[in-house]
Parts: sequence; structure tokens; C-alpha cells
Amino acid sequence: MEIENILWRPQKRQAQFMVRPEYEVLYGGAAGGGKSDALLCEALRQVNIPHYRGLILRKTYPQLSELIDRSRTLYSGAYPQAKYNSSGHFWSFPSGAKIYFGAMQYTKDRQNYQGKRYDFIGFDELTHFTFDEYSYMFSRSRPSGEGTRVYIRATANPGGIGHAWVKERFITPAPPETPIREFYDTLTPDGKTIRLSRERVFIPASVFDNEELLRLDPNYLANLSMLPASEKAALLYGSWDSFDGQVFSEWKNDPAHYRDRLYTHVIEPFSIPRDWPIYRGFDFGFAKPFSVGWFAIDPYGRIFHIREYYGCNGVPNMGIKIEPHEIAAKIREIENTDENLKGRRIIGVADPSIYDESRGESIARMMEKSPNFIYFTPADNTRIAGKMQVHYRLRFSENGEAMFYCFNTCRNFIRTIPSLVYSKSNVEDVDTAGEDHIYDMFRYVLMMHKITPPKALPYVNLPTSDPLDLRVLRV
Ligand SMILES: Nc1ncnc2c1ncn2[C@@H]1O[C@H](COP(=O)(O)OP(=O)(O)OP(=O)(O)O)[C@@H](O)[C@H]1O
Ligand SMILES: [Mg+2]
Repeated sequence: MEIENILWRPQKRQAQFMVRPEYEVLYGGAAGGGKSDALLCEALRQVNIPHYRGLILRKTYPQLSELIDRSRTLYSGAYPQAKYNSSGHFWSFPSGAKIYFGAMQYTKDRQNYQGKRYDFIGFDELTHFTFDEYSYMFSRSRPSGEGTRVYIRATANPGGIGHAWVKERFITPAPPETPIREFYDTLTPDGKTIRLSRERVFIPASVFDNEELLRLDPNYLANLSMLPASEKAALLYGSWDSFDGQVFSEWKNDPAHYRDRLYTHVIEPFSIPRDWPIYRGFDFGFAKPFSVGWFAIDPYGRIFHIREYYGCNGVPNMGIKIEPHEIAAKIREIENTDENLKGRRIIGVADPSIYDESRGESIARMMEKSPNFIYFTPADNTRIAGKMQVHYRLRFSENGEAMFYCFNTCRNFIRTIPSLVYSKSNVEDVDTAGEDHIYDMFRYVLMMHKITPPKALPYVNLPTSDPLDLRVLRV
């Protein structure tokens, strides 16, 4: 009997993850479900093919050590002749196949993978990565030679910088275990458009699936039960709705495309045609920063953020403590000198609270007065509607264009918008404890020019293909 020799055998949920035929599969949700184990074993599936190359990624090298330790048990148990090279962070198998461990602490670390190709790419803890980092690896997902299967697998717990994009990519479009198919139109060299598609799917994980862990460590369940409410919902029950994470995960800043404006929101400045309307948004702050921003609208309704004046003393989220009339004087000076603003009619829109007169003269009144004459109209301050406008504006069309662009000179906008996270108390909204003054000002301007939502992603019911052989490791 071989049974006694089995070192690792997938549990039921792990098996469901391992049989999926889709190109991308996310195995995620609660902690302790056996996700990392399943990912490590999945990487072994093709190690009998000499040219097979697998890659397992975590955000940082220190975080990889746990996976590497576990691989020592599993990989050398199953392949006693396999060798781990600890300076190169890779396993070599008797066939010649290799499995690499890698990190991507900063987005620029993507370059370390440039020119490489992997049949299998596995991301452990995908919510620690940004979408840019994940999607870059699609270009590295290529066969190493004849006869390998090329695919991507990931595990994740809710929460973290990537929470929002992971949720939007795998969780929101379809119920669990339902394949999501996305279509991409591509131009061939002879000018024809071809329609390509790829599938992905989400397999939920729960600690209750991991009988082995519950047996080995009965207290683990109690540990998860003791967590604060939002962490408990995420890590014990696998809820994707209870956690913070980056709000505007659509945001992209790609210097390679500052000129052609494809798949980037940040672009190179240009001279604004005389007939484009200009808006000036304003969010007041004294101890906290104030934010002034100028926006131009092109004939297609696209909005360009062309200039910023941010009242921050250099320490994030600390204001420069100047009075409203001083802000107005600086606005006047900018509007008299900036080539894109001077001599134009500029429509001001500001936080309605600047009209408050309960404590004496309002901020709006102080700014309107001679010699500066800076006028505003009160903004529509509805928070969720404004946030949705930001999402709609940032979304890229099929050909990589957005309805909002920002000049690369608006440095504080570029710094703060992608760093906003969800609120823990109001999970649909931005956390107002963050540096959100530029975001608030941005919302006011967008609410003056609302757009309708782009179409949601379709999903399809694909039959699942024949289960692949499950890997059973023998000592
Ligand atoms: N198929 C299996 N057979 C035996 N033990 C298993 C199996 N799957 C998982 N385990 C055990 O459960 C433990 C937890 O699994 P794993 O680390 O894969 O969970 P996880 O879902 O990645 O957890 P986290 O959310 O904390 O990252 C493993 O260290 C291992 O001891
Ligand atoms: Mg894990």
C-alpha cells in the first residue's frame, strides 16, 4: 500500500482550487485555510518537465522565509534529490526543472523579472501587491518550452493595499467558483481587430476547511475569534466587505506613457486651448492642509488637473496655518501668472462650510474681498456619489483612455490620491483620518461635471474542464 507514504494530500477545498482550469485562480478569504500549502504544492505539478520554471512571489523576502521553510519539508520530502539554493532562492529538481522564490517590495522591483519567463507564477498574499505589480507578471507568464501549462495562481486574505483591486477583479463580478471571462480587443499588424478572452475564478477558503490545522492547533480558531470585529469578519469568516484597503486601486502612474496617455492617469503638461472651461476647486484647512486645484475640461468632457496649490508644511497632513485672505492672494497671483490660467474666466467651487457665518465673517467672504476677488460656489458635498465619480473618471476604456488626467507637476495629488484607504467604521467610504484634502477638493470639481458609470464586467458560466491529476507526494 502506498497510502502510508503520502506526505501531503489536498484537503477538499484545496482540491477544488487545484483542479480549476482557468488561467488565473484566486484562493482566498479566511486565514489558515491551507492556501499557502496548496500554492506550494501546485507549483510542483510540472517539475518532471526538465525546462519547467515556476515562480512563487511574496511582497518581501523576510515574508518568504515561512514559505521557504515549508517548502523544505514538502519539496525535499517529495523529491529527496531536489536541492535548494539559498543564495539564489530556488529549488532544482532532478529533471532540471526549477522553482524560484521572489519578492517585489517596490513596484520597480518588477524589473528584476524583465526578460524572464515562467510557466507557473504563484502570488502568496496577493492583497499585499498593487495591480500594477500583478499585471506586469502577465508579460512574464510564457511557456519555457514545449508542453508546459502556463497559468497564474494566487492566495489572499482580505485587507491590505491591494484589497480593493483584488475584490473588484475576483470577488465582485461573479459568485465564488463561477468563472469570469474578460474580453480584450487587440489590433493585429495588418490592422484587423481580434477579440481575445481569458478566464479567472475565485475559490473561497475558510479555516473550517483545514481539518489538519484544527486538529494540530485547536486554539487557532479561538485566536481568530478574539480579533476585533473587522479583522474577525475578514480573517475568520473571509468577508471581503469589512476591511480597509486602497480605495482608488484603478490609479496608474506610468512614466513610460506620459506622452501617449495610455493606461496612465499622470501625463506630461501641455498648453490648454483657450476655449476649454477652467474650474478651481478649494478645500479649506488651517492646522490641516488646504487644497486648491485647477482643472480644464476638453471638448469630450475629459478633465485635466493642471495646477495645484497645496497648503502643507512638508510633513504629510500638516497645514501651513495661513489666513483665508493670504490664500486668496496667492490664488490671485497664480491666476495672474500661470500661462494656462491668466486672463481666463475661472469657475470656483468649494466646500460648503466656507460659507459658515456662525463664528463671524465667513471664509468665503474674506476671500471675495478686495484686492483678491476670489469667488466660489458651494459644492455638492455628497460623499459616496463623489467617490463614485472619481471611480468612473479613473476607469480605463478598452483602448486605455481615462476620463481624468493629472499633470505630472501636481505632485501632492499624485502622492495622496492612491494612498487613501477605506474607513473601518463606514466601509464604503474613504477614511477621513487620512490626507484627504486634495481628494475632497477633487470631488467638488467632479460633482460639477458628473458622468455615468461605464458598463460592468460580464461573467459567464463555463463548464469546468476535467479535473487535473492531483499531486500526491510520496516520501
Ligand atoms: N493538505 C494538508 N495536509 C496537511 N496539513 C495541511 C494541509 N494543508 C494545510 N495544512 C496545515 O495547515 C497549516 C496552515 O496552512 P497554510 O499556511 O497553507 O494556511 P493559509 O491559508 O496560507 O494561512 P494564512 O491565511 O495564515 O496565510 C499548514 O502549516 C499545515 O500545517
Ligand atoms: Mg498563507
